[in-house]
Amino acid sequence: MTIQTSNTTISTWTGDTLAIGLFEDAVQLTGDLAALDQQWGGILTELITEEEFKGKANSTIFSRLPSGNNVRKVILVGLGKVETLKLDTLRGVAATVARNAKKQRTKTLAISVPTYNNDPASTAQALAEGILLALFQDNRFKSEVENKTPQIETIELLGLAGQEAAIIRANQIVSGVNLARELVAAPANSVTPITMAETAQTIAQEYGLELQILEREDCEKLGMGAFLGVAQASELPPKFIHLTYKPSTTPKRKLAIIGKGLTFDSGGLNIKGVGSGIETMKMDMGGAAAILGTAKAIGQLKPDVEVHFISAVTENMISGKAMHPGDILTASNGKTIEVNNTDAEGRLTLADALVYADKLGVDAIVDLATLTGACIVALGDDIAGLFTPDDNIAHQLQTSAETAGEKIWRLPMEEKYFEGLKSGIADMKNTGPRGGGSITAALFLKQFVKNTPWAHLDVAGPVWADKENSYNNAGATGFGVRTLVNWVLS
Ligand code: BES
Ligand code: MN
Ligand code: ZN
Repeated sequence: MTIQTSNTTISTWTGDTLAIGLFEDAVQLTGDLAALDQQWGGILTELITEEEFKGKANSTIFSRLPSGNNVRKVILVGLGKVETLKLDTLRGVAATVARNAKKQRTKTLAISVPTYNNDPASTAQALAEGILLALFQDNRFKSEVENKTPQIETIELLGLAGQEAAIIRANQIVSGVNLARELVAAPANSVTPITMAETAQTIAQEYGLELQILEREDCEKLGMGAFLGVAQASELPPKFIHLTYKPSTTPKRKLAIIGKGLTFDSGGLNIKGVGSGIETMKMDMGGAAAILGTAKAIGQLKPDVEVHFISAVTENMISGKAMHPGDILTASNGKTIEVNNTDAEGRLTLADALVYADKLGVDAIVDLATLTGACIVALGDDIAGLFTPDDNIAHQLQTSAETAGEKIWRLPMEEKYFEGLKSGIADMKNTGPRGGGSITAALFLKQFVKNTPWAHLDVAGPVWADKENSYNNAGATGFGVRTLVNWVLS
């Protein structure tokens, strides 16, 4: 499937399906649309009246045209109210149109929507992202492909001639999102610490990144007792991934992005019980998937920023070698941790990853982690929690997420709550009281960052979707990649 741009008008474009965006409460036809309606003998007016089309965002109606016209079918798609139009509205609209057109076995499709904010490049990129995200299908684990609807061959974005670079960018970014989706969707007997390291290797080779994999012995030498404590019951070797993108010129910034990489979280001896969602815990490497997806995108986009992609990857399992609840671990910065709950394992692996990143001398660190169920209780399935003592990074990430169409919401790092993590025997416990569970988790992480501006995104909710929306099928979303790419490029 190729996406093209042109300045062809709606009345002269020829092909299978023409999709036209209309604002809510303004569906009367003027200008080019009135001309097209006349050219088509009033079909558009009839369709709008008969179907009571109001232009609500993502609502669609369509009709077949008599043969002899320039197109076979028309799709009208709602854009919502003019004043609430966002870049993400257009991303969603393009996705909705692409899905509908595919169902109708369209081979050639044209989309005509207004340019957002006089910015044709961002508009073309968002439209292309929506299309590519919506048409992604994961058939890896089916013995037979279920959805045999033929692929759309070409999609033309009308009125956006010359925006080829934006479409290439969209392809590069979505290739990263789709990698993250595949990694999260794959079960724990398919994606393991070993295969995560292999995926990092593939990215390094394909796009010329540097890769260092620290094996268990290397991590022991660095004193990563917190990470290794989590890893000790698994039959699989832990892998500490450090993938580096370096630009060919002097970098204008240096960044580190860390992802929680639990390829499965059983809870450990504090095992997850019935109704805990243990069978979904293959997605506990959603943070690591997002950083690998971002690395894949950045390796193609080639910005003049140095980026370190880091994940301490392992499983949280049980065996005779497992951590006992109450064990005391020593992290690589020398701090001691009383593990009062083996199911609060993500923060233990992140502790050593943060200490490692803090020593790289980067300008900022962001970590992404499916860290707490409490964050899902607070913000639901669609919104990630943002925690940082640094207003600057908070603002950068909020802007990056907004443009990306990913939802994040800042929550407080209430220092007083650290009291809940005080231990009678070690420097801290890994788990505090039930209330404010995602805040104490963030405060725990903060103990392992000394020198570098840092932010933490709790992505436990949005890495997985129970229901499909315009550009996501149900399942793995690839959440975080688009925000991180924007942040690196900003
Ligand atoms: N991986 C989980 C958090 C999680 C829960 C992610 C649901 C996605 C969906 C994490 O390791 C965990 O088990 N957290 C515990 C912390 C508690 C023991 C303090 C939790 O949220 O219950
Ligand atoms: Mn856990
Ligand atoms: Zn976990």
